[in-house]
Amino acid sequence: MSQFVPPYPPRHARPLSPAKLLQLGARNFLAIWEDKAFEQQLMSMRLLSRRIFICNSPDTVRHAFVTHNDAFERKSPQMRHALKPLLGDGLFISDGETWQRRRRIVSPVIHASRIGEFAPIMVETAAEAAARWSALPEGMEIDALKEMAKLTAEIICRTIFGRQLGSEHADEIVEGFSDYQRQIGQIDITSLIGLPDWMPRVHLPGIRRSVKRIVTVLDEIIASYRAQDPANREIAVIRRLIEARDQVTGEPLDAEALRNEAAVIFMAGHETTANTLAWAWYLLSQAPDVEQRLHAELDATLGGRAPTLEDVPRLVYTRAVIEETLRLYPPVPLLAREAVKDETLRRREVKRGSLIIVVPWLLHRHRLLWDDPDCFDPDRFLPDAPRQPDKYAYVPFSTGPRVCAGLAFGLTEAILCLAALAQRFSLRLRPGALVEPVCRLTLRPGGDGLPMTLHARAGAAHWPGAAPVEAAAPPPGGCPFATP
Ligand code: HEM
Repeated sequence: MSQFVPPYPPRHARPLSPAKLLQLGARNFLAIWEDKAFEQQLMSMRLLSRRIFICNSPDTVRHAFVTHNDAFERKSPQMRHALKPLLGDGLFISDGETWQRRRRIVSPVIHASRIGEFAPIMVETAAEAAARWSALPEGMEIDALKEMAKLTAEIICRTIFGRQLGSEHADEIVEGFSDYQRQIGQIDITSLIGLPDWMPRVHLPGIRRSVKRIVTVLDEIIASYRAQDPANREIAVIRRLIEARDQVTGEPLDAEALRNEAAVIFMAGHETTANTLAWAWYLLSQAPDVEQRLHAELDATLGGRAPTLEDVPRLVYTRAVIEETLRLYPPVPLLAREAVKDETLRRREVKRGSLIIVVPWLLHRHRLLWDDPDCFDPDRFLPDAPRQPDKYAYVPFSTGPRVCAGLAFGLTEAILCLAALAQRFSLRLRPGALVEPVCRLTLRPGGDGLPMTLHARAGAAHWPGAAPVEAAAPPPGGCPFATP
């Protein structure tokens, strides 16, 4: 009998009062939605001093994030104030000219064209995780979220700082970042009531301590990187950032900007992919048909060897599993902007200072945009699917000029890591575990974390030389698994 815990969070029959909304939203932003929100196209509400617009249809998303991006390019005050102590003027939260300058430097350094350099690091780190798992007893319980966080942190550390410097500092940085995240609230009341930007915010001593901890490690790593003989320096993102010159001004990044951008790449590039992989394990454990088809593809394509970048185009179903996971559990479930000038949205007046929000959590489960929106069905992302997702209804990486600069990195990493591990292991959810999607800065399993037992896959299909297995047929109609 399935031990699957019933859907969470519940959807409300009626809109919440502002007080209830703030109270629930501060704990878990995913828990505030009324059922009707999953079919509305543009919502508007006043919260304390601010008017908020929620774009919940492809045309409004396109309008706000693409065609009229100049009016809505600034990140929300909540996001800026939450991350400023750590990221300073880093790309993720800056806007205007600073953002343009930083994007010109950072984007090429982690761009799709560099994936050939990064993929071997991803595969070798996943192979080390597989070796660690192999040494554990059959059926041992692990926290899949922690395991994936360790894996992706190791990958991003080695990518940014090189193999020699990455590993020893990974744990310290990961702990510092999760400590920081634990302490910053999703809803910053001071910004909602309209305190101006220049007014200093009071940060808890805990926040200051974790910033100090992270900055100290980053500075140490950068200093020892600079101290290396340039001729022997490994090719790594940090080296490219040190050497990069702005195409327009010719300026390099100064020391503080360098540290801020390293922190941005670490923060943006580690937990997002970790959460994606963790949710993928969870979904696979609940949908045996999907898991079987994934295994069949991995066995047929890889035959037991480690995946490579060249395999990625052939791992069509694996990619569909990741894309469907990103639909149901978008790691960044809220994209919020502030209007920098008066504008209109579907003929409605949007005053300067209003908040414009796209909620992938809602948009990706919208009843008018998706068939069986709550159902885990990777087939919808296969190239021959009858109804292809609308480009502006599916935005796990955002869209427009501020689209994720590490899109190719994150997607490739998730596919390669899942392929490397799922060809050898299955994970099963601990019976009775409460898996609660919780939104902090990212959407992650809250509650008990993700307690899963580890099982080596039976059969010889994953050993070198084994005969390829035919891909299993899709389930005969219907949804294999409805998700919370
Ligand atoms: C599955 C993995 C990932 C997901 C779902 C994801 C998602 C996103 C989203 C939604 C944004 C925009 C946030 C907003 O508008 O508020 C973003 C921005 C960004 N991401 Fe990712 N990301 C992922 C992986 C990565 C990786 C691996 C890197 C770096 C190697 C990265 C680097 C960045 C950067 C630098 C930005 C800021 C871009 C800008 O503001 O111009 N991301 N990401």
